[in-house]
Order: sequence, then C-alpha cells, then structure tokens
Amino acid sequence: MFKGRRLLQRNKEENKPLKVRKMFGAIAARYDFLNHALSATIDRRWRKACVREIGKRISHSSPGILDIGCGTADLALAFSKLGPVIGCDFCRPMLNIAARKVRESSKQFRVSLLEADALALPFADASFDVVVSAFVLRNLADIDLGFREMRRVLRKGGALGVLEFGMPKTPLLAWLYRWYFLNILPEIGRMISGVDGPYAYLPNSVQEFPPPEDLKRRAGLAGFVNIECRLLTGGIAVLLVGKAGQPPSCKNQVRLSSD
Ligand SMILES: C[S@@+](CC[C@H](N)C(=O)[O-])C[C@H]1O[C@@H](n2cnc3c(N)ncnc32)[C@H](O)[C@@H]1O
Repeated sequence: MFKGRRLLQRNKEENKPLKVRKMFGAIAARYDFLNHALSATIDRRWRKACVREIGKRISHSSPGILDIGCGTADLALAFSKLGPVIGCDFCRPMLNIAARKVRESSKQFRVSLLEADALALPFADASFDVVVSAFVLRNLADIDLGFREMRRVLRKGGALGVLEFGMPKTPLLAWLYRWYFLNILPEIGRMISGVDGPYAYLPNSVQEFPPPEDLKRRAGLAGFVNIECRLLTGGIAVLLVGKAGQPPSCKNQVRLSSD
C-alpha cells in the first residue's frame, strides 16, 4: 500500500514536465492578460521588487543574467536594464510570445531567448553573475535539482532571485486569498483562456508548495548563502534572494596538499 502510493507519487513527478509544458502551451496566448488581470497588475510590482533587490547585490556593471522559465519574458525584459539577459523556457509557445515582445521592445539587443529545461541547463558551470526565476519553482518535478542547477551555472558570489507564490500570514487575508484562489480564479482563468485545468492547477500547486523556511533550507543545501525571504503583498508572493557560496560538491573536500 505504502509502496503503491510512492509509485503513484513518482509517476506524478515523472509526468509533471509534460503536463506543465502542455498546460503553458495551451494558455500562452492569454498568459500575460490573465496574469495581469488576475493579480490586478500587482505581479509587475513583484518583478520590479526582484530587480531592485538584485540590483543592490551586484557590484559590477553589466552582469550576465539568466532568467529560468522566462515564459513571455516580462522578468527578462525588466532585468535587461541591469545587463544582458538570456531567458530560457521549455515551452515553445511561451517563447514565441516572448520573442515577439522582445522584438517590439527597445531592449531587443539585450535579451536572447533559448528553449531549455530548468533541470538540465545547457550552460557550463559558473556562466552567469545573476540567476533569476519567477513563478517557476513550484512547476518543477524536482525543486532541489532546480536549485542545484541555478547554483551550478552561477559564479561564486553571484546573485540569486526567485519569486514564487506564497500563503498570506494573517488569518483573514489567508482566508480571503484561499477563497479567491479556489473559487474565483479557476473560473475566470477558464473563461478567458478557454482551457479547463491550468487555473485549477495553480491553487493546488501553490498550496502544496513548501513554505519560505523550507525553501531557504533547500537553497542552502544547494550551495547558496546569505539567503533571505521577503514576503510581498502580505505573503501572497515570496522573493527569495541569496548569494552563490561554495558549490556543494566542494564543501567537504579535504585539502591534501600544503600549498
Ligand atoms: C508561471 S510561468 C512564469 C513565466 C515568467 N517567469 C513570468 O514571470 O511570467 C512558468 C514558466 O515556467 C516554465 N517552466 C516550467 N517548468 C520548466 C522547466 N522544467 N524548464 C523550463 N521552463 C519551465 C513554463 O513553461 C512557464 O513558461
């Protein structure tokens, strides 16, 4: 029985990338509109907060920036004021929208796009000064591998910024939020996107997602230090920032030579 449940969970995680890619593919054309409408445009403020916090943490001009799960490139475009950005995502329809937005923006030479999986990034170790990601972590089949990939492609001392949804702390706001999330949001999402499912998946994925303290611990295990979680809009969103410390594989290495 216990083994059966574990097998079911494993199957669920194995199917997750396919399910997630298909789901975002189905809503790509309406993603931006829904995002801004369902959050009353507060999502723009969260991305700006991420740019501001990371801006405080970088010491040199024009850092190389990677946006993982860039979707339609809102975060990549916002970060392009700090330095050149590569936005990667594994969903082609989302990247197609991103490509159009980048082409039409004044930042077209600052943002490049690439089809890639967050769990197997096609970049060498220590390729970037900054890694950012917004509302992607909860979609990953393996959050810890996601953090390890972020750490691997960052230079030591580089900055990490991760945005995710959270659960509000105050009971009344939490109740209202849960009610909106479970009853209103899936209905509006379905009406506008014309697809059943994705906006019902959102509340479930947020409710199942680990709390900020657990995220901090897991980012630490992946080799990040100075990790802080900022609660945005009463905890509806969480901004995790950190610095790339020693890669985990080197942590316990014993120095054998005396030099
Ligand atoms: C909720 S959207 C967020 C998009 C964008 N970051 C934003 O702030 O609007 C999640 C994005 O993550 C992408 N994604 C999810 N899992 C991924 C993975 N394993 N590799 C690459 N992209 C992934 C999805 O295709 C989707 O575009």
